[in-house]
Amino acid sequence: MASVTVRVPAKVNLQLAVGPVRDDGYHDLVNVFHAVSLFDEVTACEAAGPELTVRVEGESAGDVPTGPDNLAVRAAQALAERSGRSGGAELVIRKAIPVAGGMAGGSADAAGALVACNELWRLGLSFAELMEIGAGIGSDVPFALFGGTAVGTGRGERLTAVPASGTFHWVFALADGGLSTPAVYAECDRLRATGEAAPAELALSAPLAAALRDGDAKALGLALVNDLQPAALSLRPSLSRTLDAGRGAGALGAIVSGSGPTCAFLAESAAHAAEVAAAVETAGVCRSAVTASGPVRGATLAE
Ligand code: C5P
Repeated sequence: MASVTVRVPAKVNLQLAVGPVRDDGYHDLVNVFHAVSLFDEVTACEAAGPELTVRVEGESAGDVPTGPDNLAVRAAQALAERSGRSGGAELVIRKAIPVAGGMAGGSADAAGALVACNELWRLGLSFAELMEIGAGIGSDVPFALFGGTAVGTGRGERLTAVPASGTFHWVFALADGGLSTPAVYAECDRLRATGEAAPAELALSAPLAAALRDGDAKALGLALVNDLQPAALSLRPSLSRTLDAGRGAGALGAIVSGSGPTCAFLAESAAHAAEVAAAVETAGVCRSAVTASGPVRGATLAE
């Protein structure tokens, strides 16, 4: 039976500026996404019947729903509906991206399913059409297709590439258990309502854009900003020790990734990243630490 495999990267947010809550419950964002070399693999296999099923393998696979609310299944279903097909595929997801970790792992799986099923079913939908279907599944899905470094506006789904040179070296401190993205946004709103946090200006940070353009890791480390960080720290106070451990190990920047609880550290080089990873693991402030680099391409068919 035929099968198609797609490799999809995780993201870290280099700037996450969060505006006030909108009538539809979402927040307007200026969201600088950066795709990093931590990949999930999604395989779509031909199935005899019309059902869409999913199997999840890898670390924390047990935390991923395997019913109709699995984001990869929802994406494949939306693709089938859009193209007038009855569906029919077995999806296999091999997870390396932390589950509910603020690195858009579920969105990556949705993006992978869109590319894999478009190929398996020979639908020939364009990249733009897949991006549009993806935006209906989740705000971060279009970026998992797009890859590289890009700024998202609206809910984060309207993307423009941000010029970046060179390679940046990262360390990700993975936490035990996840954080719910809606809960973190709600906590952000609460902290603002009580005056404990202030809303940000919704504009691309000029120092961040300059650091990316110049490939200047030191300047990038100083420019990292995440409006959801106070909310993530409020819900998971132990993360401040994780951030401190990375800073103590000489990281150029230390930030909660998206809605957390993964913490991201920018390093000077691949060797420095390995040192920072070892230091945060030794400090006992995370489940484990992994190194990665960025930017990398979005969802790509595997050889
Ligand atoms: O779009 P997605 O389903 O990935 O978003 C998950 C949740 O994150 C939303 O239901 C919402 O609570 C929150 N969110 C938000 N504003 C955004 C993106 C996400 O409030 N721009």
